[in-house]
Amino acid sequence: MCGIFAYMNYRVPRTRKEIFETLIKGLQRLEYRGYDSAGVAIDGNNNEVKERHIQLVKKRGNVKALDEELYKQDSMDLKVEFETHFGIAHTRWATHGVPSAVNSHPQRSDKGNEFVVIHNGIITNYKDLRKFLESKGYEFESETDTETIAKLIKYVFDNRETEDITFSTLVERVIQQLEGAFALVFKSIHYPGEAVATRRGSPLLIGVRSKYKLSTEQIPVLYRTRNIENVKNICKTRMKRLDSSTCLHAVGNKAVEFFFASDASAIIEHTNRVIFLEDDDIAAVADGKLSIHRVKRLASDDPSRAIQTLQMELQQIMKGNFSAFMQKEIFEQPESVFNTMRGRVNFETNTVLLGGLKDHLKEIRRCRRLIVIGCGTSYHAAVATRQVLEELTELPVMVELASDFLDRNTPVFRDDVCFFISQSGETADTLLALRYCKDRRALTVGVTNTVGSSISRETDCGVHINAGPEIGVASTKAYTSQFISLVMFGLMMSEDRISLQNRRREIIHGLKSLPELIKEVLSLDEKIHDLALELYTQRSLLVMGRGYNYATCLEGALKIKEITYMHSEGILAGELKHGPLALIDKQMPVIMVIMKDPCFAKCQNALQQVTARQGRPIILCSKDDTESSKFAYKTIELPHTVDCLQGILSVIPLQLLSFHLAVLRGYDVDFPRNLAKSVTVE
Ligand code: F6R
Repeated sequence: MCGIFAYMNYRVPRTRKEIFETLIKGLQRLEYRGYDSAGVAIDGNNNEVKERHIQLVKKRGNVKALDEELYKQDSMDLKVEFETHFGIAHTRWATHGVPSAVNSHPQRSDKGNEFVVIHNGIITNYKDLRKFLESKGYEFESETDTETIAKLIKYVFDNRETEDITFSTLVERVIQQLEGAFALVFKSIHYPGEAVATRRGSPLLIGVRSKYKLSTEQIPVLYRTRNIENVKNICKTRMKRLDSSTCLHAVGNKAVEFFFASDASAIIEHTNRVIFLEDDDIAAVADGKLSIHRVKRLASDDPSRAIQTLQMELQQIMKGNFSAFMQKEIFEQPESVFNTMRGRVNFETNTVLLGGLKDHLKEIRRCRRLIVIGCGTSYHAAVATRQVLEELTELPVMVELASDFLDRNTPVFRDDVCFFISQSGETADTLLALRYCKDRRALTVGVTNTVGSSISRETDCGVHINAGPEIGVASTKAYTSQFISLVMFGLMMSEDRISLQNRRREIIHGLKSLPELIKEVLSLDEKIHDLALELYTQRSLLVMGRGYNYATCLEGALKIKEITYMHSEGILAGELKHGPLALIDKQMPVIMVIMKDPCFAKCQNALQQVTARQGRPIILCSKDDTESSKFAYKTIELPHTVDCLQGILSVIPLQLLSFHLAVLRGYDVDFPRNLAKSVTVE
């Protein structure tokens, strides 16, 4: 949902070409967040800091198109060297305004590019602000909400009460007028060599690289004493001067580089030293020094921001020998599920320990019910594990789509425990649902794949699924790791239940053999490719199952529709005769998931109903299932595991099938149209 990247080299000479390369590479790492247009703002040719002007290059299309455009600009000398320079870059997923150069970011304050800004998120009160600014004579050129921010900062600057107002004070005044979600980075000709970044609801982190020792590992947060209420008195307060002892910088003001990005994948190749900004932090770099301030002090505020060391490796975000990130991530699942369980499941003692939950276990055991909330694939992980959670926790379990949960103003009580499942940890609907539950004083538990994400920080406790970075827009390995994390939670909850010991042993045994069984399923890739060859020209594909595998059908159909653009529906087999059966005929391709579990006999009924209407089902079944295969047009035979884990194995053929279908149909698997990885807007 838009990717932000910015780079400052302070006393580190870099040619314009090197600066371009850094910006473009940063955007390429973030391209999964949006890819309908892209742009950069850099300094003009003059390398005298005080006399710079800002040059904007923006292009409709992906980052590659922007890269080509940059080198076409005759006015730009690629060899010119900048000792200090600040460049900002953006890749867009359109929310307000069609994809076009003028709607892409950076957005500017005026034709002279006095202030430029990049933005991830949505400003919900932009219409009011725009009206106000238009009434003051500011002319707008784009349809975006972001342009309002660029114009607003110029308005604040034009109406400043003192000449020496700082860049961060301007930004502070701007964000006090904004409603909605944002991560913003600003650049200005009035503050050459300076940067200001801020966030509320959208992620933003800052990487720091210096060969010199940094003066601190903790950046204290500064607070202002007075507040500003509205646009009318917008220029009435002054920022306290920042004292350099409260900033991070290389000792002795030595060379340092700063990288601002929407997520760590764009930073890791430069440095593993990062600072995660909190909502409403305003981070400013001036004279190579980074400082952070906030307007209001909240009781819960942490008084400093630590420089953290990222554990991520560069190769984790490279495609390696695979043709797409999605394909790589499907094939990583033997390791990613292992990493989810590593150090948590003890196969000798049959115990499970989730460190992030252990202190809250008593409270969870006493709760009235569990509510498991997510969107898309993360919601499917909740559906997939609902039955086993009910069985192991002996609690009522509600599974909820975050948007619908909010639409209904669902009653939530302080003795509820609410789980928030999210790969990115930033999905706006899930985050809003989390805040809704927190307001009602329920215990909140995050299950995310992103350390430092909003959901992991705002929940009371949680589980990190440890699947490693997921870059393909279509989620695959996060699903199987979320699934396992929830099963592990159920196992931890049931440790003392005598009546459940055999069942627990069976499930833990099943978990142990999962990585090997996943490898076995992945070895079916060629067979699934052949199936895709038969199906790729179809318009529709139904996926049907029930019980533990209903979620497999929902998830398989979602994968198919999002990357192949075929119509696909996950159907609960129990509902077949209540409507969907009307779709069945000789032509309609149907995949049926029939596993040796308590629903096997009922699935046989559904199979009969399909074949009786001349349907030709492709059946995902257990290896030893001779019964289903008699009626199948084709079978994909899968290894057998314990019923409640079977969905981890049965979803993989559907992930592979969707991948092959999309490639055969000629689509870019990692960048499906109209979608973005991290949905930070409602
Ligand atoms: C589908 C997919 C989406 C996400 C959904 C929630 O392949 O990736 O449906 O699952 O947008 O995202 P997270 O898990 O980041 O909250």
